[in-house]
Amino acid sequence: MPHTQIAIDGPAGAGKSTIAKLVAGELGFIYIDTGAMYRAITLKALRLKIDLTDEDAFNFVYETDFSFKDGTLFMDGEDVSEAIREDDVSNNVSLIASYISVRKKLVKMQQDLAGEKNVVMDGRDIGYHVLPDAKYKFYLTASIKKRAERRLLDNLSRGIQSDMDTIEAEIKRRDHFDSTRIHTPLKKADDAKEIDTSNLTIDEVVKLIIQNVREEEVYGF
Ligand code: DC
Repeated sequence: MPHTQIAIDGPAGAGKSTIAKLVAGELGFIYIDTGAMYRAITLKALRLKIDLTDEDAFNFVYETDFSFKDGTLFMDGEDVSEAIREDDVSNNVSLIASYISVRKKLVKMQQDLAGEKNVVMDGRDIGYHVLPDAKYKFYLTASIKKRAERRLLDNLSRGIQSDMDTIEAEIKRRDHFDSTRIHTPLKKADDAKEIDTSNLTIDEVVKLIIQNVREEEVYGF
């Protein structure tokens, strides 16, 4: 039987990662956070101190190994889940994610990972580009205020103090960059179900997605 793929796309702060992880847990699927992969490449570039504006300097992507264990990303054998959330990475990742050579390599890895198991994959281009044949596609949105509020709380829970206006400006900047870049920008797949999460709890969105999947699933998981 072919593997089942669930694609979840949407802008930063719409709750994708938290929701995708919970959906995967509930269904016993593998969770793949593709944003974490772009972040990890950004982290590696920062550590290598290469010129971030020089796309040609990113050939190291081809020698970089990724694996996911229980939704946690390992790069070259190192758990980078904390390091990739640092401000320096967040502030530069959109630029690195706009490079075609980086995208080609990561998309290929994402497709390989999705070919092996039942997956829930979240990102910006999953439904219409990485997994266009995914059986289930969702596009999560939320108001800019809500998204900034969530990022603020998320930062606080990790001991990072931040300011609402700065976060809002940063999210707007990233939205603009991610949705206007040339190669596979942030976009809703035509056949994706859109869910506005502004006034929904995490649990409500998870339930909604699971319900959608179960309603259509004839085998059960
Ligand atoms: O979801 P996130 O904030 O961790 O994503 C980090 C960046 O990576 C974001 O600016 C957009 C980019 N990204 C992308 O271009 N394509 C994806 N499939 C996932 C993320």
